Amino acid sequence: MPKKLKILGLFDAMEPAKIDEDLTLLLQGKDRNTERDVLGALVKLGYTTEHLTIFDNLDLVRQKVEAFQPDLIFNLADQFRNNRAFDQNIVSFLALQDLKFTGCGSTGLTLCKCKGISKKILDYHRIHVPDFVIIPRGKRIARPKRLKFPIVVKPLKEEASLGISQASFVETDDQFNDRVQFIHQSYDNDVIAEEYIEGRELYVSILGNQRLQVFPIRELVFKQVPPDEPKMATYKAKWDEEYRKRWGLENQFAEDLDPALVTNIQDKCKEIYRLLTIDGYARIDLRLTPDNKLYFIEANPNPILADDEDFALAAGKAGLSYPQLIERIARQGVKTVRD
Ligand SMILES: Nc1ncnc2c1ncn2[C@@H]1O[C@H](COP(=O)(O)OP(=O)(O)O)[C@@H](O)[C@H]1O
Ligand SMILES: [Mg+2]
Repeated sequence: MPKKLKILGLFDAMEPAKIDEDLTLLLQGKDRNTERDVLGALVKLGYTTEHLTIFDNLDLVRQKVEAFQPDLIFNLADQFRNNRAFDQNIVSFLALQDLKFTGCGSTGLTLCKCKGISKKILDYHRIHVPDFVIIPRGKRIARPKRLKFPIVVKPLKEEASLGISQASFVETDDQFNDRVQFIHQSYDNDVIAEEYIEGRELYVSILGNQRLQVFPIRELVFKQVPPDEPKMATYKAKWDEEYRKRWGLENQFAEDLDPALVTNIQDKCKEIYRLLTIDGYARIDLRLTPDNKLYFIEANPNPILADDEDFALAAGKAGLSYPQLIERIARQGVKTVRD
């Protein structure tokens, strides 16, 4: 790819942003590591880059594209009007204008965003998923008898462990009903309630469209959490450094997995990636039970791309430096045909 390519970094915002929103201010935000790292890499790679932050104004995208005429949009926008379920609509809007963009297309985003649809598809193909029920807002709240405790109650279409805390782990019908009601009301989301799968928490990063590259497996370990306590990547477990220290939570490369098991997990994840029609790059979240049964928990197309997060670290371990990774993602975006 010639270095003269013009790349527009497309970011999301939590409130209305101006077309020429000050980048320095934006990049100082504490949750903006990905934008900072990706833009930094693109500049280092010699691309001409500009950026746009969108909240709810699609006209700004049209204006920016008209003015800058980008060859590619590096898509880091995964919410619209504070709604993370609109990620698929953003890329649909880009595809309708025949714009090239990085990462996953609308079908993959749609299938993965709904934690129920992805599980139904995979279950049909005999990939283990936790038994689950979906409880929409406004419907009577009751646990189906077949669903066995302990159960994890989650928002159906959220990300980043929003709405997931230790209270999401329920062991009685009263706790179940309370938590479902809480998610309906406080998170304005339908609920998926899944049987809790005890086991190691594994993250598998994959890059590619037709030809897929799987990176070394990452794991979240719970070093100081007592053996009989639930172990989950709750909101605090992901984002609260103090909390992570207190409970000995660490993201590291998975150790002591039999090489044959690693191959098996990686093959299974490629299959999942294809079944869910993911393009670009994704991180698949799994649980591995004590008797080595592998359960699918969630697929994350367009996972966090900051240089110190699981995806980039896994790519790095496979020999892709951060700028090389960003270049691969960009190049793939230029080549991908969206239908
Ligand atoms: N069925 C389950 N069994 C065990 N742990 C679960 C289950 N569902 C979720 N968790 C825990 O909660 C975390 C977040 O759930 P996930 O569905 O990935 O939501 P998010 O999209 O917010 O990351 C998982 O990484 C896992 O640690
Ligand atoms: Mg997850």
